[in-house]
Amino acid sequence: MTKRDLITIEDLTDQEIEEILDLADAMLAGARERVCAEKIMATLFYEPSTRTRLSFEAAMQRLGGSVISCPDMKFSSAAKGESIADTARVVSSYADILVVRHYWDGAAQAMAEYADVPVINAGDGSHEHPTQTLCDLYTLKKEKGYLKGLTVVICGDLKHGRTIHSLIYALARFGVHVVTLAAGGLELPHYVLERLQREHHYGLAPVSSEDLHAVFTETDAIYLTPDRPHQLALFTQVDGTIQTRLQKMAAGLKFDAFYVTRRQKERIKGGSTESGADYPRIGENFLRERRFKDTVIMHPLPRVDELSHEVDRDRRGIYFKQAAYGVPVRMALLQFLFDALRKGAVRAVVKREALYESREPLGALCSNGNCVTRTESASSRPRFELLFTGPGGALILRCFYCDHQFKVRYVGHAKSRRYCPYDITLEDTVRDWLKRDELAIFDSIKQAEELGYEPYRSGPQRTIMGEAQIRAALEQISEQILEESEDLDSLLVLGIRTKGSILALRIARELEKRCGRKIEVGEIEVYGPGDDLRRLSPADGEPETPRVKDRSIILVDDVIHTGRTVKSALSIIFKCGRPRSVRLAVLIDRGHREVPVKPNYVGKHIPSSERERVRVKLREVEHDEKDKVIIYSIISPDNSDQRSALSAPADAKS
Ligand code: NCD
Repeated sequence: MTKRDLITIEDLTDQEIEEILDLADAMLAGARERVCAEKIMATLFYEPSTRTRLSFEAAMQRLGGSVISCPDMKFSSAAKGESIADTARVVSSYADILVVRHYWDGAAQAMAEYADVPVINAGDGSHEHPTQTLCDLYTLKKEKGYLKGLTVVICGDLKHGRTIHSLIYALARFGVHVVTLAAGGLELPHYVLERLQREHHYGLAPVSSEDLHAVFTETDAIYLTPDRPHQLALFTQVDGTIQTRLQKMAAGLKFDAFYVTRRQKERIKGGSTESGADYPRIGENFLRERRFKDTVIMHPLPRVDELSHEVDRDRRGIYFKQAAYGVPVRMALLQFLFDALRKGAVRAVVKREALYESREPLGALCSNGNCVTRTESASSRPRFELLFTGPGGALILRCFYCDHQFKVRYVGHAKSRRYCPYDITLEDTVRDWLKRDELAIFDSIKQAEELGYEPYRSGPQRTIMGEAQIRAALEQISEQILEESEDLDSLLVLGIRTKGSILALRIARELEKRCGRKIEVGEIEVYGPGDDLRRLSPADGEPETPRVKDRSIILVDDVIHTGRTVKSALSIIFKCGRPRSVRLAVLIDRGHREVPVKPNYVGKHIPSSERERVRVKLREVEHDEKDKVIIYSIISPDNSDQRSALSAPADAKS
């Protein structure tokens, strides 16, 4: 039987979303066809809920259907250790549709794979909450009449708020401008920004709007906008003209809605002890601003203290209406899904690139510790989309369940049982292995070797910079930085993990030697599991995340080639605040740029070549205790033996 699930908002096309919103209008107007008579809905809520659960149950009953559920999953067999896969199998034999809420990211997807009936995601961990988004879109459209061209400010805990993640993709699809106003340390996760950029062509720029600062003093806003040229906003610190233009544009924005959310304290490691002084709040100040006289205020609820009760009495506070629309919208959704089932419509085709699933018992794991593939392996097998266009030519795995992204470290060929570190020159080979189902991906050498894989021989190497030259280059870079820095107090040296961070620490040490004061150092993790920006060796009592607002940042990396890593790093910086300037320092510049960034400080220029790779080896990470820069070719045309081993797996020894 074909079935139609709703796991992420991307499972619905734009047209289908509009169809559901129109249907909701009809439901609200009193259409009461008993389209669900004889149907049973099971609600499986592993997390607390008021609105979502009750509005689903009310919607089903209004359509003539009935509902079964456990009052609390703590009283179900889950408490005895039953897997979500088994629960899904069993309950789908009792009901015609399942509505699932779970604290693991990706749990709804995992259950959908075992259930014979459609599964609706009613919120999975910090990942998505697509039906809330349908209610949000319905409310916005009803209130403003249209969606395209509106500007919505999204505030609060953008990191853990699942309602926000689904909403932001949908807003981008409907051409809504988005301004994000995150509480400190709770910015939009990088994987969400990446998806917005990759799939919806949304660029991001810092907002300099004084209007917002009138309400929120400590929080920096980011503007996300659909037009192609704004992608350049990522490099605005390098190009002052574009920056000025963008800031003017952002300052002239009319804000149509504020979408306020609570701090998701249950998802914050170690609980939330912060006083929350910089948490965006809406209250009297907001209501008094003339600028916001037509700005509506939305909230998925429950609220804590981010939305004051004064707003309840104001016509602009529309969150109770938003909650009430939950019933007609969910009625429309249920009717839509049962219709799809009758017509035999399969799940909408989501743009998924080739999915990779390891054929080996060991292999790469999702980097998100709360992903269902990490928490309950009995109910899911790690599966990933392969994205070949990561920063610096990196190969990126995107988890099929939770969307988190991370970089591939080692690739292996399952037939010849050989492995090597992934390298941009291997792209075609890896595509070929994937097609033949002969690809293996490993997180570590240990994993590969435990399965009996042996390393590929690497090509001939030459050292192009020795220890003394590297030291001299870093000294010279530090001299130049000092010469060009007017205000040392605002200096922040940020390294791109891992080698960039080591170089950043060394540059900071050189700076300290020369100017006799402490220089703050931080690191950026472009594809990390969680916090993308952190202070290196945090001082006592200071927050883990360095402040970037109004700082003069020196961004440090070992090698710059395509410029994509720097682009990603800049987007992480901007999402945390608006620095005064960003200057770029690299040990090696390979000069073949896809992205218009130019390093301000360079240790050595080495022209790029398709066949040659440069690797910076630093004593902090290498075992041979010497710094050097080497150049080598991984697929050498002169070395036919190796070439055949890598590119023609059919001939390789098995
Ligand atoms: C939200 C949720 O559960 O994600 N509530 C809802 O469904 N209306 C928001 C929240 O819990 O903060």
